[in-house]
Amino acid sequence: MIQFDRVWKTYPGGAEAVCDLSMEVAEGETVVLLGTSGSGKTTTLKMVNRLIEPTRGRIVINGTDIMEQDLIQLRRGIGYAIQYIGLFPHMTISENISVVPNLLKWPRDRTAERVDELLTISGLDPEEFRERYPAQLSGGQRQRVGVARALASDPPFVLMDEPFGALDPITREQLQDEFIELESEIKKTILFVTHDVFEAVKMGDRIALLDAGRLQQLSTPAELVENPANEFVDSFLGQHRFQLSLLTKTIKTIMPELRPTSPESGSAKSEARLRARSSLIEALDLFKKTKQATLPVYEGKRFLGPIEKKQLLKVITEVLGETGETS
Ligand SMILES: Nc1ncnc2c1ncn2[C@@H]1O[C@H](COP(=O)(O)OP(=O)(O)O)[C@@H](O)[C@H]1O
Ligand SMILES: [Mg+2]
Repeated sequence: MIQFDRVWKTYPGGAEAVCDLSMEVAEGETVVLLGTSGSGKTTTLKMVNRLIEPTRGRIVINGTDIMEQDLIQLRRGIGYAIQYIGLFPHMTISENISVVPNLLKWPRDRTAERVDELLTISGLDPEEFRERYPAQLSGGQRQRVGVARALASDPPFVLMDEPFGALDPITREQLQDEFIELESEIKKTILFVTHDVFEAVKMGDRIALLDAGRLQQLSTPAELVENPANEFVDSFLGQHRFQLSLLTKTIKTIMPELRPTSPESGSAKSEARLRARSSLIEALDLFKKTKQATLPVYEGKRFLGPIEKKQLLKVITEVLGETGETS
């Protein structure tokens, strides 16, 4: 767990970057720091691994104030991935990922195994990429290596500062999806920075919305969208509210309204399935792609019921109505 307790950061020039921040990131949780440029996201993140020192207040990790922890030990437990990942250009991909394991003096074969494992889960064939240099990779591939490097020593905490920010929208979405998939298996405690509300909604268990160094709202994506805490939050969501509603409402949340009855029949068994946690937008997308009238919904391996495209469209129309009324 990471706890911020009345944390302030005032830079020498007088800029109040972070003001009286108190919040917690629970074990295994992903909290997204969201806000416009200059709202204090990076400062908040860098105080956690002590790249920046707070002016006042305490940051506590696993019950101990970080200022009382050994700096090297602290940083070894915290993976760090940033936008311009700064892979070492003169080192191969394998050497780049091995930096922390080497510092920790892992045996050679354990490190080599870990490199291959990370490359594989990052969608990069180890045979092909191990010995390449960063300049021989695309932006998306480099960013994957950056994330792999942050995870190399399997740290319990991960800090990510706009890790997909420099990518084109398609590659970006692909990396977000891959990371969500990966994250569901490795279950880290993650603090993730972005200025993009769609990315925040997609990646976060909870979102901490900052404005001028002050926390405006800390809640689940659905709560943020449905119940903005103040005018700032409301205007931050702005005209995206309808689209965000469709993103934060999941198939699972609308299942009770649909009361599916018929079990999945043998003949209708399709390859395509909806996940209970799919958003309404993802669901609509899958109906479009598969051209099916009905799709099965699964939560993990458990079959929850079928859902009809007609039903989905009806719910979406209702959401559209609600959003229209409140704004
Ligand atoms: N090293 C620094 N010295 C002085 N002011 C800084 C420094 N770094 C950031 N700031 C100021 O602190 C505020 C927050 O910056 P930052 O945390 O980088 O915001 P964000 O990551 O949300 O864009 C901004 O007003 C910025 O100009
Ligand atoms: Mg920043």
